[in-house]
Amino acid sequence: MIPVQRHLFDIPEDVAYLNCAYMGPLMKSVAAAAEEGARRKAQPWTIKPADFFETPERVRGLVAQLMNATADHIAIVPSASYGLAVAAKNLPVKAGEEIVLAADQFPSNRHIWAKIAAETGARLVLADGEDLTEAFVSCINERTSIVAAAACRWTDGRKIDLLEVSKACRQNNAALVLDLTQSLGAQPFSVSGIDPDFVIAATYKWLLGPYSCGVLYVADRHFDGEPLEEGWMNRAGAENFANLVDYSDTYRAGARRFDMGEVANFAALPAVASALAQINDWSVDNLYSTLSQRNLYLVERAKGLGLVPVSEIERAGHFLTLGLQDSAPADLVQRLASDNVYVSQRGRSLRITPHVWTTPSDEDRLFKALERHI
Ligand SMILES: Cc1ncc(COP(=O)(O)O)c(C=O)c1O
Repeated sequence: MIPVQRHLFDIPEDVAYLNCAYMGPLMKSVAAAAEEGARRKAQPWTIKPADFFETPERVRGLVAQLMNATADHIAIVPSASYGLAVAAKNLPVKAGEEIVLAADQFPSNRHIWAKIAAETGARLVLADGEDLTEAFVSCINERTSIVAAAACRWTDGRKIDLLEVSKACRQNNAALVLDLTQSLGAQPFSVSGIDPDFVIAATYKWLLGPYSCGVLYVADRHFDGEPLEEGWMNRAGAENFANLVDYSDTYRAGARRFDMGEVANFAALPAVASALAQINDWSVDNLYSTLSQRNLYLVERAKGLGLVPVSEIERAGHFLTLGLQDSAPADLVQRLASDNVYVSQRGRSLRITPHVWTTPSDEDRLFKALERHI
């Protein structure tokens, strides 16, 4: 178990922030890295040409460590939607083929596939049910060309066994695209065994990083793919600023060709690196077992209030949702916020996602407020 780490965060004692699935807070050290980066831009002579490449490389290495890949497999992107657009551009789909998604999947991981389906004559197939793994596997067949999934559903925390889904993809020659925005950094994940085509995660939730940043894993078999943009930084030789008009016809190695333009964000990327280093230091295995154990304790207390969680077998440990009864007030989230308790509601589920900053007194504040308002 990782002990409570509240001292690393800028969260007042009387605020129970239980909403990592909405937005992870920056640690003080991460905010300091962002501030220092922003200040360097006030004195541009302190920014050297090498700085354009060194921080992105550091981020690639830290992300690779998180998912058991190599730095060559990692591109840096501005959002999950951007990464998903890269995936869609590089996965061929034909009329009559099927793209499998979860019902209620996050819009960034649905709109792009709906558009591709409309353009090509392919069909969207929605996997749904109590057991989402079984639902996905039963939808995958010889017509499936792409499966776009997550490790846990953003609305209710239902988990999806990606090894099982990957096996069904391989048996049917289907590509696998993963949006791990709601799990990477908190739930263990390794590309080995699963062998996905593309993996995307925005950094502003469980990776405890800034907004407008994301990371993209690209499998070797797509290293010769098409990027969304034709910038200068993802071309071989870009390090040599004096010779940029010797236009290079070759991209930089591996997944770097898929980097967003202006990838060397001098404020955001040092913050991403700082957050990832701390997460790797805690280790995702330790984070997952700590958060899972703490959430089990919340589940027991919630049952006393008649709030029913998704079953332990079907729920990802780091992600707690409680089914609300019909009698719960429509403005419950606002009422809880007025008591300095911050959670989300998605559909009829109250989404409660604490982290290592959460103290026992935050938990007491939550249950006192729930008793008052439901
Ligand atoms: C599952 C999931 N994917 C992606 C995102 C964010 O997407 P984007 O980076 O495209 O804004 C969210 C935000 O809530 C999410 O829950």
